[in-house]
Amino acid sequence: MSPNIAVTTGSWFFNPGARDWACPPAPAEAASFHAGLPGYAPTPLLELPGLAAEWGVGRVVVKDESTRFGLPAFKSLGVSYAIYRVICDHAGETVRPADLPGLREMLGSLPRLDLVTATDGNHGRAVARFARLLGIRAHVFVPDVVSPGAVEAIRAEQAEVTVLADDYDATVRSASEAAESRSSAVLLQDTAWPGYEEIPQWIVDGYSTLLVELDAQLGATGPSLVVVPMGVGSLAQAVVTHYRSREQRAALLGVEPDTAACIQTGLASGRPCTVQTGSTIMAGLNCGTPSSLAWPYLRDGLDAVVAVSDEQAAGAARELAALGVSSGPCGAATLAAARAVLAEAAPSRRAALGLSADSTIALLNTEGAHETRR
Ligand SMILES: Cc1ncc(COP(=O)(O)O)c(C=O)c1O
Repeated sequence: MSPNIAVTTGSWFFNPGARDWACPPAPAEAASFHAGLPGYAPTPLLELPGLAAEWGVGRVVVKDESTRFGLPAFKSLGVSYAIYRVICDHAGETVRPADLPGLREMLGSLPRLDLVTATDGNHGRAVARFARLLGIRAHVFVPDVVSPGAVEAIRAEQAEVTVLADDYDATVRSASEAAESRSSAVLLQDTAWPGYEEIPQWIVDGYSTLLVELDAQLGATGPSLVVVPMGVGSLAQAVVTHYRSREQRAALLGVEPDTAACIQTGLASGRPCTVQTGSTIMAGLNCGTPSSLAWPYLRDGLDAVVAVSDEQAAGAARELAALGVSSGPCGAATLAAARAVLAEAAPSRRAALGLSADSTIALLNTEGAHETRR
């Protein structure tokens, strides 16, 4: 359970060796798979010159995931690629169809396949959407802290939804048990644990497209600092994989809610651990246990982690809205985190991340504005 480490608003953990750590790259196949899907387009990269001037850096950019495949979050990148890999795996094919009609045809020759998952909103909606597009049934388990609007959005994709009076970790266990009880069901979860790692890795591989796009949009210089929101840490695993497998080595900063800081707590105590979660408006980050796959990447390859409050995330979302960027609290948490390290009161953090007047800071705005619930 939770070690005796208190993470509070603004707490930060820094790993001086992270920039020198290296790992193999993600498979290149994910980006080409996504490019073949209907409705694919790189999400916009928005420039925030006012913030760059305020912080005394070269550029501040926002990778805006509020319109990914017509859904308001980045999650469909991982979901679509993982469903594709699951179907090909079931068919035992080495030559894989690269589009939805090809996958539908492949499904036609297979025994029934249903998808089961747990979510705190965005992941489940993406699973439901791609299941519907492929004519597969989806059963989505949701903790009751998730907003009614998010639950309705999943139902609107024709998924069966079960709302549980439990936290996220317990909801994941229920989804896993439900999947095990039906031979046709496959658990499509965006977090891993020992014995369940193949599908979560495909989801992480799918996220790599976001970073391939970011690099192409930024050009040769690439980002100096990437700020990523963390729930179980799968997206951050993709960020670490990307920037620790190439010459250009950006500094990487993860951000968590101060009420669900399982990754910072684990880093500070030297081992992965579970923390008690409560309620936060950063619903997608309200996770008590890091993904077992993500953990070694976060431990070794992430430069720093900072915890932010609901008030800071809500303020950052309002600030981004005023700048014309649609962001929910999870996405806006990256702005709150950048403030926490670039504030005048924190010069040592800025120096630790190697930031200078030429630096480019990339904020991953992982979701668009939506109704929130605490
Ligand atoms: C909008 C948003 N941002 C970030 C995350 C964090 O992703 P991960 O759980 O992979 O760390 C989530 C997860 O649900 C999310 O919904």
